[in-house]
Amino acid sequence: MVIRVIEDRKGDHIRICLEHDVQARYNHWDDVFIPHRAIPTCDLDEVDLGVELLGKRLEAPIIISSMTGGSKEAGRYNELLARAASEFGLAMGVGSQRAALENPRYRDSYSVVAEYDIPLVLGNLGAPQLSRGNEGNNYGKEEVERAIDMIGAHGIFVHLNYLQEVVQPEGDTTVRGFIENLEALCRDFDVIAKETGAGISGTDALLLKDAGVKALDVGGMSGTSFSAVESFRKDDTGFAERSGRTLREWGIPSPVSMVEANVGLPLIGSGGIRNGLDVARALSLGATAAGMAHHLLEQASKGYEELAKEIEYIIREVRSVIFLSGATCVRDMWDTSPIITGRTADYMK
Ligand SMILES: Cc1cc2nc3c(=O)[nH]c(=O)nc-3n(C[C@H](O)[C@H](O)[C@H](O)COP(=O)(O)O)c2cc1C
Repeated sequence: MVIRVIEDRKGDHIRICLEHDVQARYNHWDDVFIPHRAIPTCDLDEVDLGVELLGKRLEAPIIISSMTGGSKEAGRYNELLARAASEFGLAMGVGSQRAALENPRYRDSYSVVAEYDIPLVLGNLGAPQLSRGNEGNNYGKEEVERAIDMIGAHGIFVHLNYLQEVVQPEGDTTVRGFIENLEALCRDFDVIAKETGAGISGTDALLLKDAGVKALDVGGMSGTSFSAVESFRKDDTGFAERSGRTLREWGIPSPVSMVEANVGLPLIGSGGIRNGLDVARALSLGATAAGMAHHLLEQASKGYEELAKEIEYIIREVRSVIFLSGATCVRDMWDTSPIITGRTADYMK
């Protein structure tokens, strides 16, 4: 049954991400160096961490990336993450809302976020469900409206996850009609297009910009590999295990995708962001904010106190690095001219 399958999948994803190593073997953010300023240009406590995204003000340039919903356990994670987003004034996305659109019994695991005062809440639906060829599952305006209303969202992430779909035995690989459908949705809603760990190229960034999305979340290769995640799922055919391993490192490294996808839209740097230095590295490559998924899931699994302490430290690190870069605010970071070395520099040649 399709609903049971979705619930199992969401539960599997959390469990696998917490129990197995599903990170890319090389984190390309380590190749990004921001030049140090021995004499910063303002006092540390004068650094302004606030940013605006989709017209909403965040207290710090951090997004809790879309992860979950669709099971009891997922609902508990969404509640922990929502509480943190509210306490620290961060943006938050929920995981794909397909499960709740298809079965109302899963609504609560998403709508729990509406109980918190969060500056920017983003719904989530996938490109395969928005593709015309996908019979019976072809979402449009009505479904997006329902997804947004379900959680009191200000906009919606449309995720691009074809790497994950191709390695799943039950993967949904329809894409025809997606861009036309997206274009129509962008006329009615604030849409952010996001990848889920394989990055967005310059060509695709332009296609998405032309379709009318308001921002791009690069979701590059460097952190969670959904190909790796799928390789750990039980699969009678053995295909996911094999193919998931083969394609584990597929994708555009996150910092490279930042450079390619910088097409004049607000950019979100994500895929492998582990700490405040990585957040600042993303800012130095033109991001308005950075998205974190796996790292925060791990902290949340230890309870709210651990999650809150980690976010507090990450924010302090972002402030410190902005200060040490001679910048006074997020926007100044765009002028810091980071140096890209190693494998990432090779890739960019
Ligand atoms: C457990 C888990 C579930 C996820 N589910 C979704 C999802 O439903 N929709 C989505 O757009 N991205 C989903 N993602 C992808 C993240 O939003 C993010 O793009 C990706 O994990 C890369 O970020 P990271 O390296 O910080 O984990 C999920 C990630 C994790 C770890």
